[in-house]
Amino acid sequence: MRGNRLRRSSLATAGLATIALLTTGLAPAMADPIDYRDPTAPIPERVDDLMSRMSLDDKLGQMVQVERVAAPPEEAAKHRVGSVLSGGGSAPEPNTPEAWADMYDAYQRAALDTPLGIPLIYGVDAVHGHNNVQGATIYPHNIGLGAAGDPDLVQRISAATAEEVAATGIDWDFAPCLCVARDDRWGRTYESFGETPEQVTAMASAVTGLQGEQLGGSPTSVLATAKHYIGDGGTTGGDDQGNAELSEQELRDVHLPPFQAAIDRGVGSVMVSYSSWNDVKLHANRYLVTDVLKDELGFDGLVVSDYDAIDKIDGQEEEFTRDEVRDSVNAGLDMIMMSENHELFLEYLRAEVDSGQVPMERIDDANRRVLTKKFELGLFENPFAQRDLLPSVGSAEHRELAREAVRESQVLLKNDGVLPLSKDGGKLFVAGKNADDIGNQTGGWTITWQGSSGDITEGTTILDGIRQAAPDTEVTYSRDGEGIDDSYGAAVVVVGETPYAEYEGDRPEDLKLDDEDLATIAKLRESGVPVVVVTVSGRPLDIGGEVEGWNALLASWLPGTEGQGVADVLFGDHAPSGKLPMTWMGSFDQQPINAGDGQQPLFPLGFGLTY
Ligand code: GLC
Repeated sequence: MRGNRLRRSSLATAGLATIALLTTGLAPAMADPIDYRDPTAPIPERVDDLMSRMSLDDKLGQMVQVERVAAPPEEAAKHRVGSVLSGGGSAPEPNTPEAWADMYDAYQRAALDTPLGIPLIYGVDAVHGHNNVQGATIYPHNIGLGAAGDPDLVQRISAATAEEVAATGIDWDFAPCLCVARDDRWGRTYESFGETPEQVTAMASAVTGLQGEQLGGSPTSVLATAKHYIGDGGTTGGDDQGNAELSEQELRDVHLPPFQAAIDRGVGSVMVSYSSWNDVKLHANRYLVTDVLKDELGFDGLVVSDYDAIDKIDGQEEEFTRDEVRDSVNAGLDMIMMSENHELFLEYLRAEVDSGQVPMERIDDANRRVLTKKFELGLFENPFAQRDLLPSVGSAEHRELAREAVRESQVLLKNDGVLPLSKDGGKLFVAGKNADDIGNQTGGWTITWQGSSGDITEGTTILDGIRQAAPDTEVTYSRDGEGIDDSYGAAVVVVGETPYAEYEGDRPEDLKLDDEDLATIAKLRESGVPVVVVTVSGRPLDIGGEVEGWNALLASWLPGTEGQGVADVLFGDHAPSGKLPMTWMGSFDQQPINAGDGQQPLFPLGFGLTY
């Protein structure tokens, strides 16, 4: 039981507690220096005491975050690494919540078995639920939550996600993504809450959901991460990890406000973006990382790199160089995330410190930031997984919350009256590659990094949801529409994209429906039956040339495991309330298209019909 990780930072508390301990003869004499192991001592003084006992190797190790595959527990402890992560899909075998908790505890036992016993902190991408874990609740991706437009809902989802994450021991969630997506060709558009700073800023409520009102203030508090700093959603052409060619004023006006909001909410970490600003890699940009983020905005948490991102500072893809190690640490990064080569990293960093190229003050600042978060999280007092929370993973309560989010995220873009569908019997035809596919409706960052089609985890497909919503209706499913005829009252065809993540999802050439989808829709339309098109996609699609012939259009985004929420809207159990979080292009050649740019969209930002 991790127990109450209450942060005791007030001297008054420490004083009273110390007196109490003195009278019991349990505490060191008042004159004794603070001991970092004393949970009643003020955290800044615990950090000072611990750092006074640490060797240079201890301190350099705290700046390493290495992928679990490269560093099993003993290896991680041997090099005193401060953190381990699971990259997307990097799961124990079997991939069960219990196995995650066992894995996490093994790392902590090894870390605690070192002379100073500094616990490590373990990070994962739980970006729409604890999405690496089989059976976890998977919520709509951020673009859908942006359509729902409810910061309180986002906070509740983040809190529920934190509970599932903490149940498996994990302390650090690389979320929320607070990118402002300005070009739909970008493969990470679905990780954005919207195209304006205001929409994204509102959803910084995710930080409070994950951390609680105060980091470590509750048993389910996990370290949140505002990412990716800064301008990843503003690159030219929507090129993932590309170049944001913006004036400083536009960078500050459009992309900075969400990070300020996250800092105002006490976010404990910030992850730097792979991208560049006016040709300078963010990972080597001391002005933005130190002068702006740390000094001007007052960010006092830890700054972590992206995955192997420092390898790319010099524009080459191969492993990091000694210069890249130096330049990233001197730019202000406190922890470096790496897939492997942690020993080489430590060798390079030690050499740069020994040669004076990296000042000891920089190393100490990084350690202070990292250790402060570990103390605040209560890792020194309660380092192990709290298995009493394991029943929350994929729980009915969490799935109901996810279904609520799915309902609220649906955006009705066209309806000639065919919707809401009738439940009182009759015949309904369902088609489309995304109607009965959990993998497609959850999208990227689900079980694996890229996600995948198929029956990849526990959940309810949109077709399942339709069948459950209308038990008296004869529902026929045919992926390609084979068998449709005019005996059906209506046809629902679920089309769109298949899973992708990051640069794998960049679409610089087109955003059209694929040939399979277009053929299926055509077959249904030939029957003369009213056709309801449902798009399952990570972004607006180029449908301006087709939508005229459709009787209704519902944007479902990437709804996650609870497909019933789509059926709730199709049958009118929930009147559609979602509003477009992104401007919907009239044609691909308008990209990038955003509100206020003078272009004529198919559907404007904020558009959405209801019943
Ligand atoms: C990825 C992503 C980042 C993620 C990190 C760890 O490349 O850019 O969002 O948190 O690596 O998986």
